[in-house]
Amino acid sequence: MITKHQIYLAGASGLLAGEFLRLLGVHPGLELAGAYTRAGGQGLMELHPHLAFDSDTAKTLEFESLAADLVKVLKAHPADFPWKVVLLLGLPHGQSGPWWAAHRDRFEEYADVLVVVDMSADFRLESADAYKETYSLDHACPDELGHWACGLPELHTLPPGCKRIAVPGCFATAMQLAVLPAARAGLLKLDHSWILQGVTGSSGSGAHATQGTHHPHRNGNFKAYGLGGHRHEAELLTPRNFEKMPNVDFTPHSGSFSRGIFLHAILPLAAASDAAAIRKLYGEHYAGQSFVEVQASTPEVRQVAGSNRALIGITTRGTNLHAICAIDNTLKGGAGQAMQCLNLVLSFPQETALPISGLGY
Ligand SMILES: NC(=O)c1ccc[n+]([C@@H]2O[C@H](COP(=O)([O-])OP(=O)(O)OC[C@H]3O[C@@H](n4cnc5c(N)ncnc54)[C@H](OP(=O)(O)O)[C@@H]3O)[C@@H](O)[C@H]2O)c1
Repeated sequence: MITKHQIYLAGASGLLAGEFLRLLGVHPGLELAGAYTRAGGQGLMELHPHLAFDSDTAKTLEFESLAADLVKVLKAHPADFPWKVVLLLGLPHGQSGPWWAAHRDRFEEYADVLVVVDMSADFRLESADAYKETYSLDHACPDELGHWACGLPELHTLPPGCKRIAVPGCFATAMQLAVLPAARAGLLKLDHSWILQGVTGSSGSGAHATQGTHHPHRNGNFKAYGLGGHRHEAELLTPRNFEKMPNVDFTPHSGSFSRGIFLHAILPLAAASDAAAIRKLYGEHYAGQSFVEVQASTPEVRQVAGSNRALIGITTRGTNLHAICAIDNTLKGGAGQAMQCLNLVLSFPQETALPISGLGY
């Protein structure tokens, strides 16, 4: 007998998929109904040997059969059944959108039962033009852009009954957490550059090594990339966040640690202001939010790695506000945030199955 919400996971071999499965293992109200990969039939233990699964039952399924399996399950799902069917897309950008466009008509009559969370970039932006400009791709279902909720609940309240959620990128999560309280309060000049410098750990590149992200290249190394503009900038500079766009200059860097994002925003204040007063404003903005903490000192990656916590350090220097945010890209910047959103839309406490303390070492 089904007594829990049913999770269908696409891209099961992926890094975020693995991280989500780790959280799922301790969630009291969600259970894995199917893990889909392009090479179905393997055991989940083979894909994620660090996770404890029942090796007899935890077999992966063929990604190709995902849509048909979902239709079958949705058809059999009684309308008054309290448990939802949840589809979690852990695919690369440029894959989620076309897959959804190809199958969404088959799910249409079950819209109230099916909750979809996409961890890729395909439903984050609000227009097809912005998507094309950022990803150099035509969007497969442009009519849906702007209609998926932004899965960053501390800044964008999920609407009641919300069933389509796009989890923001890891840098985009840190940027918005660091910048938006001051921007919303009108403290910042829009016509002066907002300088944002970010460093990501290697897990930001996913589970599969490429030449530039492979350990021998990355370990002990440090470099900037995306100097011409990183795609997560577009997630900050979206109409949801600003009526009039500020002048943002963001540079990402790759660090030699595994988990974590360190984002340092240097923001021009419209008038000199006391750091304590701005810290108080940030504290009030995030009041009651168990995952976000505002402090005077600089946060550190190891204080948040392994947790769904975001630490924000606030100081000022002259008329510059320094807002520094540290998160774990795989948790608050990815799978943890997906779980947090699911907790909220499925009426669990948002902290369910999510670690708040960092690993420390
Ligand atoms: N890593 C992070 O810190 C992070 C943070 C926030 C958001 N994201 C985003 O979340 C998504 C997943 O990230 P990830 O780090 O888990 O990436 P990943 O480790 O590369 O996993 C993506 C998975 O998608 C599947 N896949 C790859 N190419 C595909 C294709 N052409 N068609 C269908 N499936 C394909 C593969 O799974 P199978 O082989 O099992 O089919 C692959 O393991 C990405 O869009 C990423 O940008 C990542």
